[in-house]
Amino acid sequence: MAGISCGLGNGFCQELIAPASTVVIFGASGDLTKRKLIPSLFGLYKNGLLNDETKIIGCARTKMDDESFREKMNNDVRGTLKSQKEKDLFDLFTRKLFYVSGGYGEDETYGKLSSKIEQLEAEKYEEMVRVYYLSTPANLYETIVKNLGAAGLVDEPVPGETSRRVIIEKPFGFDSESANKLDQELWSVLKEDQIYRIDHYLAKETVQNILMLRFANMIFEPLWNNKYIDNIQITVSESIGVEHRAGFYEQSGLLRDMFQNHMLVMLCLVAMEPPNSFDANSIRNEKVKLLNSIRSWSTDDINESFVRGQYTYSKQDGEEKYAYRDEEGVDKGSTTETFVAAKLFIDNWRWKGVPFFLRSGKRLAKRSSEIAITFKEIPHSIFGNSDSQPLSPNVLVLNVQPDEGVSLSFNAKKPGPKLCMGNLSMDFKYSDVFDADNTDAYGRLLLDSMLGDQTLFIRSDFISKAWELLTPVLKQWEKQGEDKLKFYSSGSWGPRAADSLIEKCGGKWRNDI
Ligand code: BG6
Repeated sequence: MAGISCGLGNGFCQELIAPASTVVIFGASGDLTKRKLIPSLFGLYKNGLLNDETKIIGCARTKMDDESFREKMNNDVRGTLKSQKEKDLFDLFTRKLFYVSGGYGEDETYGKLSSKIEQLEAEKYEEMVRVYYLSTPANLYETIVKNLGAAGLVDEPVPGETSRRVIIEKPFGFDSESANKLDQELWSVLKEDQIYRIDHYLAKETVQNILMLRFANMIFEPLWNNKYIDNIQITVSESIGVEHRAGFYEQSGLLRDMFQNHMLVMLCLVAMEPPNSFDANSIRNEKVKLLNSIRSWSTDDINESFVRGQYTYSKQDGEEKYAYRDEEGVDKGSTTETFVAAKLFIDNWRWKGVPFFLRSGKRLAKRSSEIAITFKEIPHSIFGNSDSQPLSPNVLVLNVQPDEGVSLSFNAKKPGPKLCMGNLSMDFKYSDVFDADNTDAYGRLLLDSMLGDQTLFIRSDFISKAWELLTPVLKQWEKQGEDKLKFYSSGSWGPRAADSLIEKCGGKWRNDI
């Protein structure tokens, strides 16, 4: 084992270049393609991570050909690039773009797609990885996958290898039953290791860093348990409202939109046991094990442990913010929640008795996401009267966004003749230390899907367990309707009941984030 050594090493570093791939984007005329997918693929190209042979085929109902698709991407994406050098590179990149138009349920579309792929892959057919990105409404997943199957487009050319992959975005169902049904439909065509379910939070730098911080350092893991940790708070707060997504949001609500996926994923990374290696299945096994240890809630517990809220009108600094019920496309009597706070416990040796407080909401005071690990108070203070002036506990904060980084607060002596204690914090911000041009979340996920690395994608058993936990909560809220729905002013930190939830346990939300 390595002992003391001198000098600074660069540490472990692994960045792989994607193999030659054909990336097919269904829903290519939509918003996600121009906002995220094409810019991210271009980002990979710019950073030398995209194989030269790679081709990108857009597919959607809108009538376009290769040229008009390239022109559209030029208008939508090229203009957002800052330097002339990037614009010139983008011109080269657009030669990789192709297009097939047609309805998602029509055989003809898949026939055209098949010929296009054949023509582009030419004699490289067996060597090419194929990634189909379903950037369409979720109700089209089944149709597209069935048609891909019928057209032989996901058949594996080399038995035993998995080079035909399908990426799907959440929502993966809207409760236990629908998620299981979706899985059955996907499995009737694809094997589980061909299915790449995206949770873009898993690809955020700081979320990925949770595993590095915990398992690549000796100093944290010995303290990472109920002996030293008092409570853990996970907050994902957004200042925006539902924007133009009311149609989707009315069917979804915050618990489905943020908790069933992003919040639980972060909880798992913070609380899971060390996996035996950094491979996809070891990590995914530990996440599911953790989900299985979350204590489920009885009917009474649901009322005690969850607060759901909805934002109302407010006027701040002269700016008016609509109430959720007044947003375009929202029912005037809607009981859809735009805020959830929850308290949960993990019943295993490591976490017995440690409360986890999770909250997320739209139209909150500011956009900020963090995981705060508050350590216990010291057992005995030698510094005067600890009852009247308790020392602040140490808090380790993982800032997920917008100021990605890590900070640790601790007590220190203030300079001077008196014995005065001050609370300091040791901070590190990604932007101060590393190159700002990190591969963005979608770029990371697209690269991994081409590489066949499923670590950052969600496995079916995770989804099914997450729904199993939360479906009873959703059912109870559905029965309760407006009863127990708490309203909060836009721009606040959520309903007062959310404060009471944590105050009853002697805690306080960290609103100074
Ligand atoms: C999406 C939700 O998954 O995540 C949105 O559907 C939410 O409602 C978004 O706004 C938040 O993502 P981010 O990366 O902006 O924190």
